Amino acid sequence: MDNPVIGFIGGGNMAASLIGGLIADGVPPSRLWVAEPDATRRKGLEARFGVQAREDNRAVAEVADVLVLAVKPQVIREVARALAPIVQARRPLVISIAAGVRERDLERWMGKVPLVRAMPNTPALVQSGATALHANPYVDEDQRAMAESILRAVGITLWVEEEAQMDAVTALSGSGPAYFFLVMEAMQEAGHELGLPLETARILTLQTALGAARMALESEEDVALLRRRVTSPGGTTEQALRVLEEGGIRTLFKKALKAAYERSRALAQQLGDT
Ligand SMILES: NC(=O)c1ccc[n+]([C@@H]2O[C@H](COP(=O)([O-])OP(=O)(O)OC[C@H]3O[C@@H](n4cnc5c(N)ncnc54)[C@H](OP(=O)(O)O)[C@@H]3O)[C@@H](O)[C@H]2O)c1
Repeated sequence: MDNPVIGFIGGGNMAASLIGGLIADGVPPSRLWVAEPDATRRKGLEARFGVQAREDNRAVAEVADVLVLAVKPQVIREVARALAPIVQARRPLVISIAAGVRERDLERWMGKVPLVRAMPNTPALVQSGATALHANPYVDEDQRAMAESILRAVGITLWVEEEAQMDAVTALSGSGPAYFFLVMEAMQEAGHELGLPLETARILTLQTALGAARMALESEEDVALLRRRVTSPGGTTEQALRVLEEGGIRTLFKKALKAAYERSRALAQQLGDT
């Protein structure tokens, strides 16, 4: 479909990032609609992006070829139920970015419509997100490509085979930015304790994290090999890594991700049943 109308239900942080990314990718603002209850935010979105902003969700659902549900998980049931008649009549591609909300619940609330569940992460707010996608059986190839191109506006996208894998995605990339923030926090504190000014320790930590991630992304090689390459026998890195391994860092990460995974499953259950 050429130039589809993309409608957002909820004009908060994630919707604004997607809208900004899509406009930067060349999508005309006139094709972007957003429903947002807060009048100040509506005016802000119109002024910043030149999009069509409306108070009523139905006004956006009435024109959208792709409908992105970008409200908080706690309100999505009510929002989806209210839009069900329009969605069933018009059958747009529905994309839900609500964390932890399962396809079977969305289908129960809206009907068996083409639906893509997307799990982005917070760096999407700075166009560096990692988004996992899963499509229900009513989504065709064109709609898959469409969903991918919309989420690619805020970072990279990957499809998962089974929707159940979304709990692992949540544990890895969904919660993952916080794990790296914790590591960075610990490194800057340690650097400061070794005598560096806090600001120097902070900048060196952040740039090192960025540099390491870029090297790993741009290299053809596995991170384990990159790590071995920078670890000379008898050197400083080897000493630090020995301490981290002896402290059980790998086991700790496995336990941490397992805990996040279990929590994701429990929350999905609650969001669907309540
Ligand atoms: N931010 C992230 O990094 C991130 C990562 C992964 C997934 N997500 C998912 O993305 C979704 C949006 O998150 P966000 O961070 O963008 O949240 P947000 O900034 O709170 O945006 C949600 C927006 O929806 C509006 N809203 C509330 N009730 C509504 C209704 N009944 N109809 C239409 N709009 C309504 C809110 O307005 P009011 O403020 O006036 O209530 C708010 O502007 C969530 O489901 C979240 O799970 C976010």
